[in-house]
Amino acid sequence: MEYPVYLQMTETENVVAIQGPSRFWEGQKLGNQVLQHDVVCRTWPERQRVMDMLESEGPWSRISKEAFDRAWDPEMTEPDWGLQEHVELASRTTFGISSKARWFARVTTLTQLRGALAWAKEHDVPMLVLGGGSNMLLHGDVHALVLQVDIRGVEVLPQGPTGAVVSAGAGEPWHEFVMRTLDDSWHGLENLSLIPGNVGASPMQNIGAYGVEVKDHFAWLDAVRIEDGALERFDASKCQFGYRDSVFKREERGNWIIVRVAFHLDRESPLRMGYGAIEHELADIPEERRTHRDVSEAVIRIRQSKLPDPAVVGNAGSFFKNPTVPSTVAQALKEAHPSMPQYPQAGGGVKLAAGWLIEQSGWKGHSRETHGVHDRQALVLVHFGGATGQEVWVLAQDVMASVHQKFGVQLEPEVNQIKLHPTD
Ligand code: EPU
Repeated sequence: MEYPVYLQMTETENVVAIQGPSRFWEGQKLGNQVLQHDVVCRTWPERQRVMDMLESEGPWSRISKEAFDRAWDPEMTEPDWGLQEHVELASRTTFGISSKARWFARVTTLTQLRGALAWAKEHDVPMLVLGGGSNMLLHGDVHALVLQVDIRGVEVLPQGPTGAVVSAGAGEPWHEFVMRTLDDSWHGLENLSLIPGNVGASPMQNIGAYGVEVKDHFAWLDAVRIEDGALERFDASKCQFGYRDSVFKREERGNWIIVRVAFHLDRESPLRMGYGAIEHELADIPEERRTHRDVSEAVIRIRQSKLPDPAVVGNAGSFFKNPTVPSTVAQALKEAHPSMPQYPQAGGGVKLAAGWLIEQSGWKGHSRETHGVHDRQALVLVHFGGATGQEVWVLAQDVMASVHQKFGVQLEPEVNQIKLHPTD
């Protein structure tokens, strides 16, 4: 049998999604009240109930996923979404650069999101989705409907003796989510502690740090198609993850809004301490006593020592990607610069450290009063206050040109460049 199976109870709005022989999700509407349950069937009578529902006799009939989505909306009592105009975005991006959104809305439910999508379509207005605003540089004002997707909620679906699929609404702040999984001993995301941004943005660019990437624990994501509001589930292969990359940055760019992301976590997930800096941070704790919490705390200390806190100084993390060059090029570079860090890749090619290239080109700590290059991690551009997006972009281009001139290597920005200037 193919799961999930969607069912609706005749003449009611009660629906269930059966995810397997021993678990299902149930939504019931009682007057104005909405109840939802995630049911894991531990006893035989509970499993029998699933079998009865699947028999499709009696009150339950099968429905399509689309019908299920339409029937089930926990926020049916609150479909409104507030459209605002000329909204300042400085405090809504981690760069903190001043820029105005022509239209702005914060949506907290699928219905509100669909309402906003329909409005944008009807008025032929482009759309910009803002998660935590942690990976974008706004070059100027944004002539678009800027949507802040603030869909929340964490759900846990136990799987096997020690595992779980843990999903979170796109609007959950990433670090808070990671802390919550650790509090509940669902392990796997600890190396990704303290990364700014929201859960919804994490698969977009397959965030990664200290030897772990989102794709290593990814289960699935649900996304709404901008064109028609349809909800679709993406598994890992459909997301086509790569280094700081996914299908959502390429072929499907601008087509989807991610609303929920799920991860495979496990109480017994192995500790990953291969990254030199982590091993060094944990040197004082005997190997057999190290915990996932220790790894998380080590990562937090390393990040705090190297990366600027967006609450203190505006930035979007690594501004550039680490470039990959053919091995012949890497060899020639190594001969000319013996201390250059190089990381041979499994699929061929050699990855270089953009931070090292930028530092060697003399940019580390470079300042243009309102903005500059971070003095402890040259990959990060920083905004001290009062800079425009254009000015930061000019600096980025100067850095790229200078690295190209010195090493013949072309850097690429990792941060999304947003150029939707006003026309009215
Ligand atoms: N380096 C320098 N100078 C610098 C920065 C780095 O010489 O100013 C050298 C380091 O000494 C090291 C090498 O470059 O030999 C690599 O540096 P590091 O280990 O600090 O990592 P990174 O390549 O600079 C990447 C990610 C970070 C992530 C860290 C840790 C990218 C673009 N960046 O940085 O991700 O936290 O590894 O895993 O892949 C982000 O994406 O926003 C981000 C911060």
